[in-house]
Amino acid sequence: MFEELIRGWDGEHVVVRFDEPTGAWMLVGIHSTVLGPAVGGTRMKVYRSLDEGLADVLRLSQAMTMKQAAAGLDLGGGKAVLAVPAVPSPGSGLRRELMLRYGDLVESLGGTYITAADMNTAEADLDIVGERTDHVLGRSIGCGGSGSSAGATATGVFHGIGAGARHALGSADLSGVHVLVQGVGAVGGRLAELLRDAGARLSLADLDDARASKVASNLGVEPMPAHRALDAPCDIFAPCATGGVLSAESIPLLRCRVVAGAANNQLATPWDADRLDARGILYAPDYVINAGGVIHLVGYERLGWGAAQVAARLSSIGQTLSELFDESEREGITTAAAADRLARDRIAAAR
Ligand code: NAI
Repeated sequence: MFEELIRGWDGEHVVVRFDEPTGAWMLVGIHSTVLGPAVGGTRMKVYRSLDEGLADVLRLSQAMTMKQAAAGLDLGGGKAVLAVPAVPSPGSGLRRELMLRYGDLVESLGGTYITAADMNTAEADLDIVGERTDHVLGRSIGCGGSGSSAGATATGVFHGIGAGARHALGSADLSGVHVLVQGVGAVGGRLAELLRDAGARLSLADLDDARASKVASNLGVEPMPAHRALDAPCDIFAPCATGGVLSAESIPLLRCRVVAGAANNQLATPWDADRLDARGILYAPDYVINAGGVIHLVGYERLGWGAAQVAARLSSIGQTLSELFDESEREGITTAAAADRLARDRIAAAR
């Protein structure tokens, strides 16, 4: 399986290291450096097998290539996985040692891969990684980074929702538009605030009941049970929790006009884009709408952009989506296919 996964992957470089003291496997997938150094976060997770961790890193690194290209950034795509026997607790010595050795690995790649945060890794981890390498984005402001990118991701998604509303509902004005946010964590919680400020009618769902209640009460709405998020009626469904949420099983249940949210890898399979299309549901391709995080990190930490430039690039996510929606309609292709073409054309032009 391991061999097949690598043979079947169209990326450039896979690095595998076993970290004996923690029993962790460190996997780095450098999918493409055609447009620039490969950028992507580090996911720390307990996998059922090493194959599963490898499959994740290969798939996620490819998605980062597409994200950077579609966002018009001169960066390639990469991703890292720390496949751990158990996630070491934040602040523990074991975690610190793991992050230092991981920093050494990133440094050894000579800047072909620049890391950042992903599931189960955060600013504090990147501060430690940064003790060993400069090829890291998203350190705390005190350690020379630009901090969490979740707010920027939410702002980009908000612009994308506006574009979706304009195309499917006839106006980008969100007042009175019913938006269901699934997952009100760092991104979904901030997105809900932006939507409330724009006058949208909100439904909020989270597996974590305490978090759902807290965010909902701050915004003056009732949380809904997490299991109802897929089949509850709304105008716009914003998945901001986990990947794989749009599938052969879930798509028939949806009662919305637009899907536009932050989660990575929303489509369980590529055919799910056709399933959404067949149901007349407008889909904002995930890697286009959720590029705000990388725009924030790279803009502030590598390109010397100020707040106004970052804000302009976040707003351009809405414009890019509007163009993709028009193109998909004009040419009778799915919005996902239109996004893939945009990204691939940019990479092909740079070759
Ligand atoms: P987070 O971990 O802060 O929030 C996720 C929330 O979703 C949590 O509150 C969790 O309880 C909830 N959740 C998990 N499964 C659920 C389910 N089945 N139903 C309802 N709620 C569920 O994560 P964050 O940073 O807000 O990211 C959200 C999504 O956006 C993730 O898929 C992430 O990969 C993606 N993303 C995040 C970026 C960032 O800048 N933080 C950038 C690009 C994508």
